[in-house]
Parts: sequence; structure tokens; C-alpha cells
Amino acid sequence: MPTTFAKRLDAVAPSVTLAMSARANELRAKGVDVVAFGVGEPDFEPPSYVLEAAKAAVDKGASKYTAVTGIAPLKQAICAATKARKGWDITPDMVTVSVGAKHALFNLALALYEPGDEIVLPAPMWVSYPEQVRMMGATPIIVPTTEESGFRISADALAGAVNKKTKAVILCTPSNPTGSAYSKDALLGLCDVMRKNDAWLIVDEIYAELVYDGFKHVSAAELAPDLRDRLIIVDGVSKTYAMTGWRIGWSITPKALAKALDTVQGQSTTNPTAVAQWAALAALTGPQEDVERMRQAFEKRRNVMVAALNDVPGIKCRMPEGAFYAFADCRALIGMPWGEKKVTNDEDLAFFLLERASVATVPGGAFGAPGYLRLSYATSEERIKEGVSRIKKAIEEAKR
Ligand SMILES: Cc1ncc(COP(=O)(O)O)c(C=O)c1O
Repeated sequence: MPTTFAKRLDAVAPSVTLAMSARANELRAKGVDVVAFGVGEPDFEPPSYVLEAAKAAVDKGASKYTAVTGIAPLKQAICAATKARKGWDITPDMVTVSVGAKHALFNLALALYEPGDEIVLPAPMWVSYPEQVRMMGATPIIVPTTEESGFRISADALAGAVNKKTKAVILCTPSNPTGSAYSKDALLGLCDVMRKNDAWLIVDEIYAELVYDGFKHVSAAELAPDLRDRLIIVDGVSKTYAMTGWRIGWSITPKALAKALDTVQGQSTTNPTAVAQWAALAALTGPQEDVERMRQAFEKRRNVMVAALNDVPGIKCRMPEGAFYAFADCRALIGMPWGEKKVTNDEDLAFFLLERASVATVPGGAFGAPGYLRLSYATSEERIKEGVSRIKKAIEEAKR
């Protein structure tokens, strides 16, 4: 077999989380009850009307290719939802429906990033952003933020990171992995910086409906109408409607860019799966009570998770505004004994918790935040309590 692969892959990091989940699966196969705090997907089922609509679509013959960038009614529904939720009155020719939000971001990377380009990424950041940038031969400019600033990039830090080579800035609000979200004022400050350059502003709003304690998600689309000619919003049904496996996400972009995305997608996946598009249409246009029910459940779980984590000696966890992740500061645990060895970093700590507590987490280094762990609370309150109490016990025993 020829053994040379494309050079573009050389710079791309293999996922540490894959090694973690492989080990978690190995343990499960041996009958170990592993508590899954690693997964980034809701444990709920999609609303029943979504499933009914998908079945009806199968019966009505949704078995053919559709328009590359999505069926007209879905694009119309995305326009209506964007107007209602983000205050941006868009037209269908600005919408590209893709095979999940990750695919929407990948299409954008293909359409926009080139060697020599810099893409500004406030960290902690979702793992796929820098890897997609590297895959295109462009350079991720990773700007660390601190827990004290709520893991939010300041206007000054953004201004310091942007220069003539900057092709795009990617923000994620609420964020994976930290759950932090930008307030109106914080976002206004960042928009001011963007006004002084001509980079694209990509805002990943996939978790926008999952905010707590009355926090109001605001979209840059609403706050800075004058930036809409280089604003890109990424969104989808995966998280809001518990539809991760249906693989429907989209981007909202200026028309010229949407046309370029049509070309990119037209030469790769063509349309996203027809049935999944009809299901996504039902999700957006059906009754939204299930979304609120799931949001309330996540809020309760967040409270349980964060309180329990803060009760573990050596762990500190900030209360996140949204998404379904707790991002716990575990720096005090680095150096802790692990039998004959020591826990030397967050990756080690995650493996320690898997081996000693049968709890799966994701090490913060993967997101650009060494010393932290990401724990998803998209699981039941009972499992959250069980998992964190196992973590506490394993740490106490190791330190004894
Ligand atoms: C921040 C962020 N953006 C995008 C995605 C991708 O979502 P999708 O399932 O629609 O591809 C995820 C999924 O984990 C995410 O966390």
C-alpha cells in the first residue's frame, strides 16, 4: 500500500479524546459501569413531532437529491427562526444547510482559509476550530483567556491579536468547553474592534438556546447590523433539539459567500440527507415546549454538577451561563499521587479518573486550557451525583 498521506494532515492533532473514549469503551465491554461526562450530546430524545415528521417524509418519498444547500421550506424556517431569535431578517440565499454545524464550519474553512491567513481563536476553544484551520494550511492564533474574565476575550486582547493577516475571528457563545457566554456589553466591545479591521466574524451559536438563570443570549447579528456584510452565524439542530445524529446544521453568510459554499458543498456531500432536513424543518416549526423542558432540565443538572464539583477538595468550578458543560479548575490536583506515579497533567488526571473512579471526562489541554477538565452534564441528576461522588472518593483515597 502506498504510505504517503497528504501533507495537510501533518499539522492536524489526533484527538486525545479518542484515546479516552477507546479506553472507556474497553472498560464498558468488560462490564464496568462508566459514568459518561465526556460526551457532547444531550441524552434526551428529539421531540416526538420531529420523529413523526421524519417518518412521514420517508413515506412521502424523501429519497432523492435535494437542492445542494437545502430544501426551500427548511431554509425559509431558518430565516424565520433567525429573525425571531437573532433579530436578523435574512433571505434563503444566505443560508447553507450542511451535514451538521461542524460541516458548516468545515465548508467555511475550505471557502475562506489559505496558507498565510491567521484565524483568531479565543481559548479555551472547541477542538475542531484550530484543527480545521491547520488542515487548510492557515495558522490558528490562539488567545488565552482566564477564568477571572469568565473565559471571555476582552476587546483589548482581540485588538492585539488582529492584524492584516487575520482572515477570521471565531467566537462561540455560549461556549464549548467553558459554558461561558458573552453579555451584550462584552459583545459590543468586540464588535467595535471588528469594525476597525476587515476580517470575517464567525459566531458559533449552536448552544444559544441553552442559557440559564435568565441569561439572555444576544447575537452579534442583532447588536451590530453594520457588520452583517462580514458576519457569519453557525447554528443547527443538534443541541437544541437533541438531534446530534441527524446531522443538520447551517451557516448564515452574505450571499456571495453562500454562493461559494454552494460550490464547495456541491463538490463534496451535495445536499444533507433529505429525511434529516424534513426532520429539522419540523423541529424549527413545531411546538417549542420540549426545548424549554430540556433547557430547564439542563439548568437543574448544571446546578447539581457545579455544586458537587465545588465540594471536591482540589476542584473549583465556575457557574457557566450556558451549554451543558462544567469546566473545572483541577490545577490543584496536578502532582497528586497515583499509586507509585503522580498525576502529571490534566490528561493523566482524566485517565486517573477513568481508571480509579470509572468516570469519563475530557482533559482541558485539548481545548487549550491545561489543568482543567470538561465535564458534560447532559446526563441524569442521579448519574451526575454518582459520578462526582466517585471522583471525590478516588481523589481522597489517592491522597491518603
Ligand atoms: C461549539 C460547537 N460547534 C459546533 C458543533 C457541531 O455540531 P454538529 O453536531 O451540528 O456538527 C459542536 C458539537 O459538539 C460544538 O460543540
